[in-house]
Amino acid sequence: MKFFIDTANLAQIKEAQDMGVLDGVTTNPSLMAKEGIKGQDNILKHYVDICNIVTGDVSAEVIATDFDGMIREGEALAELHPQIVVKIPMIKEGIKAIKYFTEKGIKTNCTLVFSAGQALVAAKAGATYVSPFIGRLDDVSTDGLSLIEDIRLIYDNFGYETQILAASVRHPMHIIECAKIGADVATCPLSVITALLKHPLTDSGLATFLADAKK
Ligand code: G3P
Repeated sequence: MKFFIDTANLAQIKEAQDMGVLDGVTTNPSLMAKEGIKGQDNILKHYVDICNIVTGDVSAEVIATDFDGMIREGEALAELHPQIVVKIPMIKEGIKAIKYFTEKGIKTNCTLVFSAGQALVAAKAGATYVSPFIGRLDDVSTDGLSLIEDIRLIYDNFGYETQILAASVRHPMHIIECAKIGADVATCPLSVITALLKHPLTDSGLATFLADAKK
């Protein structure tokens, strides 16, 4: 299973990369705004900075919602760095854009996916990744993990190669359950990745070992 970090914060991306378990990065306009990255030039430079920290795929989202605009923005993003994946919203124009980029050999991430039907269409268009937002489904009393199960089943039924990128991951159990179901990727905040390391018996066991080592 691949771990992506879901942030535009360079320090957190470096910290995750230094742990040696990071496979990529996802960003979105809200995460860029959270870091105070403004203006087209600064935004493009920030994506390059991220690519220079990590070795895997880096999702960069288009802002346009019309086909021509998405193609223009996506081509500019893809030219920035070979690691860039063009992130495109799950709308009709977006599906057309994903198909276009797939035919040109440019990687895509279909974002804002909340149903199995949306995931099926994204796969048919050839998306490299599909991003179901499991935490936001949980927020509205709908089981986000059931969606991951449904997408896994559908993709396996037909051999779709689109990778399931579980997004809006809020806690370590989301990651564990996604791993059990067979999601290809989980993208999470740094705090959720580091929470996987924690167990009170590890802490108490280590304290005992260190105390005994002094005897
Ligand atoms: O990858 C999508 C993610 O950034 C959304 O997360 O916590 O805003 O629902 P959240």
